[in-house]
Amino acid sequence: MNEFVVPALAPRATASPTGGGGRRVYVETYGCQMNAYDSQAILGRLGAAGFTQVADHLAADLVLINTCSVREHAEHRVISRVGELRRQREQAGLPAAVLGICGCMAERLQDDLTRRKHRIDLVVGVDRYGELPRLVAELFGGRDDPQPIVATGHDRDVHYVAPPELYPTNSSHLVTIHKGCDYKCTYCIVPYTRGPQSEKPPSVILAEIGAIVAAGGREVTLLGQNVTAYRWRDGLDFAGLLAEVARIDGLERIRFLTGHPCDLRPHLMDLIGREPKVCPWLHVPAQSGSDRVLKRMKRLYRRADYLAMVAYARRAIPEVTFSSDFIVGFPGETADDFAQTLSLIEEVRYDTIFTFKYSERPGVPAARLGDDVPLAEKKRRLAALIARQSAIWSEVAAAQVGQVWLAVVEEPARRPAGHWRLRTASNRKVIAPLTEPTPGELRRVRIIGWRASAFLGDPVA
Ligand code: SAH
Ligand code: SF4
Ligand code: F3S
Repeated sequence: MNEFVVPALAPRATASPTGGGGRRVYVETYGCQMNAYDSQAILGRLGAAGFTQVADHLAADLVLINTCSVREHAEHRVISRVGELRRQREQAGLPAAVLGICGCMAERLQDDLTRRKHRIDLVVGVDRYGELPRLVAELFGGRDDPQPIVATGHDRDVHYVAPPELYPTNSSHLVTIHKGCDYKCTYCIVPYTRGPQSEKPPSVILAEIGAIVAAGGREVTLLGQNVTAYRWRDGLDFAGLLAEVARIDGLERIRFLTGHPCDLRPHLMDLIGREPKVCPWLHVPAQSGSDRVLKRMKRLYRRADYLAMVAYARRAIPEVTFSSDFIVGFPGETADDFAQTLSLIEEVRYDTIFTFKYSERPGVPAARLGDDVPLAEKKRRLAALIARQSAIWSEVAAAQVGQVWLAVVEEPARRPAGHWRLRTASNRKVIAPLTEPTPGELRRVRIIGWRASAFLGDPVA
């Protein structure tokens, strides 16, 4: 273990020898929560080097876009956003900012990015953020025509610790516990952009959460591509880590994302059911309900295994809820395969599903299978899956009316006025009118109705 990038917990506003002094940075984040966390780590690092964060890119000297490669659409969005940022500066009569691409696109496309028509000055891969102050100083260093800088490539020993005071003020603090992925599902680019799985040491995780609690945090969300596959050298697995985290005094709730169905073993589900601080919510993507498709995806479980896991969890974890991701139109997916996905969501009765049209990613194993489900058919299947889930959700939600739940106050709801968003331990969102709540506080609400993705509640004394 040679390096942990641990920014100072209180980023100093003073200029540093690396030369950020007085400059302003704007960071825009796409993709998953791993990126949200990394962006905080980037801001912590640059803050310690003397940069100030700004909320408007027009006010920035350095613009960083933290990107996602998981689907083609995600990459297109970033490329068009880069053009838009450039145009807006030109229209405002401002000189170009130093523009950097971070995240998964940086790792996938590397110096290809600097050859595109929107001039990109800096490409920084997911394990290279510790070098940002130095790289940026080079670009600001007064060379007449600085060449773009590309810093990519994986380093399994680099793990970030984001400073807690930079987190948004909602109630859950993100804590990445490992990075990368060794599963290599055939459709997925993540193992290539994030590299092999590598664990943040338990001592670092526990110290990080300790600091969050000391700064007033009461809830953490443990993050990773497959947190349930966590395994430290001496054999501490995810269940062991959860038990250690739960021992931290002052910490009230632990959530985690994402689980892999193969790792949801009985002893882990027993621990989740028994440990009051661990929230009864499992985000365990099934991807498909068809064994034929699951095999071609190399998901390593069958439909029956998945359903057995769900049944065990329902016995072991009181009030457990499930959410999942599904891909429609995977190469070779027939109408019958898709029908089995519909019947799987019928059987499991998820609270929430995230649905995606298959997007072929260059170089991954599934790219050799050919993208043979026509776009119109993918759209039809996606719409059918969403419609079925919405009908199931209405039944699930209707059965909750009249119940009284304890929920954490998160943030003001956009509407109606005076309403707040709350979240139960089982990840159910509730909108309720509250008088003078504090984010992070627990309130009791009676469920009186529901909308597409949230319940409506009334406060109970
Ligand atoms: N590690 C998590 C999440 C990975 S990415 C897991 O294993 O479940 C988030 C979701 O994006 C995946 O669950 C999958 O549903 C979707 N996804 C990944 N690659 C995709 C692709 N090529 N096309 C469409 N959706 C994809
Ligand atoms: Fe991608 Fe599969 Fe790894 Fe999830 S488990 S990140 S879907 S390869
Ligand atoms: Fe996207 Fe990379 Fe996350 S591809 S989903 S930002 S790991």
